Amino acid sequence: MVKICKGLIILLSMSFGFVNAIEPITTSFVVGTTLSALIGKQVYNYFHETCNHHWIAYNSTGLEVDMKRKLFGQHIASRVIMKAVTGFMNNKNPKKPLVLSLHGWTGTGKNFVSQLIAENIYEKGMTSSYVHQFVSTTHFPHPSQIDTYKTQLQQWIKGNVTICPRSLFIFDEMDKMHAGLIDSIKPYLDYYDNLDGISYRQAIFIFLSNAGGENITRVVLDFWSEGREREELKLKDLEGALSLEVFNNRNSGFWHTSLIDKNLVDFFVPFLPLEYSHVRMCVLAEMEARGLTPDEEFASEVASDMTYFPKEEKVFSKKGCKTIGSKFDYFN
Ligand SMILES: *[C@@H]1O[C@H](CO)[C@@H](O)[C@H](O)[C@H]1NC(C)=O
Ligand SMILES: *[C@@H]1O[C@H](CO)[C@@H](O)[C@H](O)[C@H]1NC(C)=O
Ligand SMILES: *[C@@H]1O[C@H](CO)[C@@H](O)[C@H](O)[C@H]1NC(C)=O
Repeated sequence: MVKICKGLIILLSMSFGFVNAIEPITTSFVVGTTLSALIGKQVYNYFHETCNHHWIAYNSTGLEVDMKRKLFGQHIASRVIMKAVTGFMNNKNPKKPLVLSLHGWTGTGKNFVSQLIAENIYEKGMTSSYVHQFVSTTHFPHPSQIDTYKTQLQQWIKGNVTICPRSLFIFDEMDKMHAGLIDSIKPYLDYYDNLDGISYRQAIFIFLSNAGGENITRVVLDFWSEGREREELKLKDLEGALSLEVFNNRNSGFWHTSLIDKNLVDFFVPFLPLEYSHVRMCVLAEMEARGLTPDEEFASEVASDMTYFPKEEKVFSKKGCKTIGSKFDYFN
């Protein structure tokens, strides 16, 4: 705002100097009108979200700090996402849009991370008109209407990227999405310079899916059984769990799509199942977010109330951190 005001003052004094030197009445009217139009536009841009750097600016420190402070138990995911998003946002000339596929058990932070990414790119975060979220069961519920959905989705992506090249599209419940629908958006994820004159290379696509969750859990459980530290887990330890084999199963939503074959997904990001200690941290963070004094005892209570699996070991929270919000009800 300060920058805008300064510019306006300089502009104002310059124009008035100019006007006074020539003809006072008529030109001052013309210049005055142009000026108020200009001022109007600046003020409008200030209050109304616009597709420019006032409203869209990546804060890598912000993303790093947010993930460190608010995302628990995901040392691999936070590292991969940091690298992927920062690399892409700093690249002046990307060859394709950024495509991330986040995988893991429910409640492990996939949605939450998407939100953090949005908040550190768009001034208005998830409420930005350049951020679009699609939930398969809500937006595309009827298999019989797949052709309508395809046309609609293609138009939405095209229309929105035309309005703002730096658009973010989040697809939730990819494992419940019709394979044909995924195929229909494939061209937008590819290495094209442009399609019908529109370039999609500045856009970001994030796919969220529970597919691979079970296989990821098995790897983490094996690690746990061997008494090894969870933080020792590396991305390569989970590559098997995120392999083609896993996605080629009928229920994964990636089934029969060539997103993977064609290498259109830039990063597969594994989210690990959460343990008791992580659920506790989620509760404490939630208390802080709600302006409550962190209460260790309450955090332990809520974490103990969750259901853990597998049946014998009881290591991982079945719903991750997903339902802890409801435990706060008796505070109100
Ligand atoms: C980026 O994020 C950091 C950490 O949250 C914050 O201190 C800083 O003010 C942010 N920078 C901008 C330009 O918003
Ligand atoms: C942008 O996407 C939204 C869905 O998020 C859709 O309702 C809207 O029509 C799209 N805009 C254009 C211009 O296609
Ligand atoms: C993934 O899990 C499924 C079912 O839980 C299993 O059948 C499959 O062998 C696993 N795949 C890998 C690569 O571990």
